[in-house]
Amino acid sequence: MSESEKPTFREAGSTKLTVGLALRQGTAALARAGIEGPDADMRRLTAGVLDVPPAKLLSEPERALSKAEARQLASYIARRARREPAARILGRRDFYGRSFLLSPATLDPRGDTETLVEMALDMVKEERWDPAKLRILDVGTGTGCLLLTLLCELPGATGTGTDISPAALLVARTNADRLGVGQRASWLTADALETVCGAFHILVSNPPYVRTADIARLDPEVCNFDPAIALDGGLDGLTLYRRMAREIPRVVPEGWALLEVGFDQADAVASVVSEGTAAVGCRVAELRIGRDVAGRRRCVAVKTRDGTHAQKPLGSCSSPG
Ligand SMILES: C[S@@+](CC[C@H](N)C(=O)[O-])C[C@H]1O[C@@H](n2cnc3c(N)ncnc32)[C@H](O)[C@@H]1O
Repeated sequence: MSESEKPTFREAGSTKLTVGLALRQGTAALARAGIEGPDADMRRLTAGVLDVPPAKLLSEPERALSKAEARQLASYIARRARREPAARILGRRDFYGRSFLLSPATLDPRGDTETLVEMALDMVKEERWDPAKLRILDVGTGTGCLLLTLLCELPGATGTGTDISPAALLVARTNADRLGVGQRASWLTADALETVCGAFHILVSNPPYVRTADIARLDPEVCNFDPAIALDGGLDGLTLYRRMAREIPRVVPEGWALLEVGFDQADAVASVVSEGTAAVGCRVAELRIGRDVAGRRRCVAVKTRDGTHAQKPLGSCSSPG
């Protein structure tokens, strides 16, 4: 056990390390390390070690930890004190009520991104689309959290997740199988929308949108642990939106494209998308801005409608793997 792990738990004599004691001492250790919300993180880490839901811990404060469990928990606390996010330590993150595996190649999904899920589900209802005939494209899928959540929520829908990172796609594929929707998902290594074929009703994307110069100023939990390729949106943060805009009418000839944006980027992305789609002769039929639970403008949604682009069946050119 390393020096930094030793002082976490102070067991006196024959006193057993119980859940209650571990939570109190671990929370204090994380607070000393300057971690915000140390109690919630401590509950998650302890629940992870004991493989129980966090809520169950509160009803079992007297449960004793074995020596191996105490050692593992001490090492988790030491890692969290060094600013590694609890989800990275545990290797999984809950998103829209489901558990997703993470790897160093994937972004740790954020609660804010659930805004895109809500908006997409609202649009399916509004457009009266039959979920069983729906085709969804997720650009920069990472863990697959957006595509797979929509496939779980929309029985029968099919979809493609793309990413420039083959290692991220491996994680997404595993998550698809764990969630029981692997048969309805396909995966494609692709750079932006290049090589993406077929027509989709809904495009969702949470592209990298942090300005390159801002990355080093992000919290250590983000800049030291999320992959740079998942964060870096280029000089002004808008590189990938610009690259996607001209291709959106081709892959979504009649439907909605929903793009997550940084808290101050909604107007800029709305312009980039309107100009990019206009440049290829597609008028945006409608543009909406979606807000996250805190009321921030975090999603730009555009409805495409262009009679010159007939809806092609998926797989009309090279099919995703
Ligand atoms: C902000 S993360 C979003 C991941 C996931 N969709 C989520 O919301 O948690 C951006 C993702 O885009 C991928 N990416 C970065 N550049 C890309 C590009 N040029 N083409 C396709 N994907 C890209 C990254 O590998 C990463 O998985």
